[in-house]
Amino acid sequence: MAQRIETIAVHGGQKPDPVTKARGVPVWRTSAYNFDSARHGADLFALKELGFIYSRLGDPTGDILEKRLALMEGGAAAVVTASGTAAIHYTALTLAKAGDEIVSASNLYGGTYTMFSVLLKDQGITVKFADVTRPETFRAAITERTRFLYAETIGNPSLDVADIAALAKIAHERRIPLVVDSTFTPPTNYRPIEDGADIVIHSLSKWIGGHGSAIGGAVIDSGRFDWKNSNVPFFTEPDANYHGLRWALDLPEPLAPIAFALRFRTVPLRNLGACLAPDNSWIFLQGAETLALRMERHNENGLAVATWLKRHPKVAWVRYPGLEDDPSHAVASRQFPKGFGGMVVFGLAGADGEAKLASGRAFIDSLSLISHLANVGDTKSLAIHPGTTTHSQLTPAEQVAAGIPPELIRLSVGIEHVDDILEDLGRALEKA
Ligand SMILES: Cc1ncc(COP(=O)(O)O)c(C=O)c1O
Repeated sequence: MAQRIETIAVHGGQKPDPVTKARGVPVWRTSAYNFDSARHGADLFALKELGFIYSRLGDPTGDILEKRLALMEGGAAAVVTASGTAAIHYTALTLAKAGDEIVSASNLYGGTYTMFSVLLKDQGITVKFADVTRPETFRAAITERTRFLYAETIGNPSLDVADIAALAKIAHERRIPLVVDSTFTPPTNYRPIEDGADIVIHSLSKWIGGHGSAIGGAVIDSGRFDWKNSNVPFFTEPDANYHGLRWALDLPEPLAPIAFALRFRTVPLRNLGACLAPDNSWIFLQGAETLALRMERHNENGLAVATWLKRHPKVAWVRYPGLEDDPSHAVASRQFPKGFGGMVVFGLAGADGEAKLASGRAFIDSLSLISHLANVGDTKSLAIHPGTTTHSQLTPAEQVAAGIPPELIRLSVGIEHVDDILEDLGRALEKA
């Protein structure tokens, strides 16, 4: 019988080291690996056999993390990267080239939004933005040149929830994959592949690592997408990046289903180089082991904080997918029965314009337990004003499209005792 995710998070992908009998995961710090023979080296490069060559392409510590993440997400293979940002960029380059298009939700993490609207545009890839609350806007934006659909399960920071089954259906009608950034819904809360997502991305820097101690990213390949009959030419035409290989047609079974993960590793990761260091893979493995326990507390505290803020007279509005009157609640309660996570956003009551911004600044400056910084998914509670920080590269119109009113304050609710979090919020709201 398949193991449950709590067990996979502790054991997945690892057996005690056969040589030393070490029970914990060792860190293999080496740049390169010996070949058994000239033939063995050639076979590894030709993908006739999988194995370690050079740590930019993969290493045994990272391999355990990749296997564990793939098992936790219900996917077939995973590749880890130096950051979530690198995982997103390399996913785009694995699927699209100059002249191609992507249709993406507009409610994205600011760095991804800038990558899509400026950097990819400069590289010749056009990203068309759609409204995640209306999946039919994705359908309307697809053309013959669209290579994938993209959305965050819960958008950062609007917290609008993507209907993954609806987006997967639209993508598959047009024979393109659905790529999902599931950072805000780690796999103990939600597994998008079960609803039809084809590629799942994580910033490991957030809940999976969980302690705010390292930066990393991952892609998980579901192994289910039909690349052979797809509208993604990189998988059916000879690839000049890899001696003319046609990824969907020439790979031997059982590698064919994980063609995406293989192209990701051997083209952008190999040739652009943002690999994850073995030490950081080890840190993320430590985090993964306690993910299920931590998420229970994040889910509980997130709901408690959102409910408390909602009743506070100095708070004008609160967004949390777990609140019954939240616009995303219907989709969220279908997709996330285990809990809605630790992200809460809200706006202060009061006059509009500069006065509102000033009280937002006073609120943030008055926090003491809750750290003011640009991160989410830490055990510690965190707060920020995205409009002037993480999303400040967006124009005012783009901020509105991304669901960020100027007064929005973002909380990443940690695993401290909830009463201490509420006391800190209460004190800061009094001063705001
Ligand atoms: C939803 C989401 N995706 C991706 C990223 C980027 O990840 P990283 O910081 O690991 O590059 C972030 C960072 O905040 C994020 O919030």
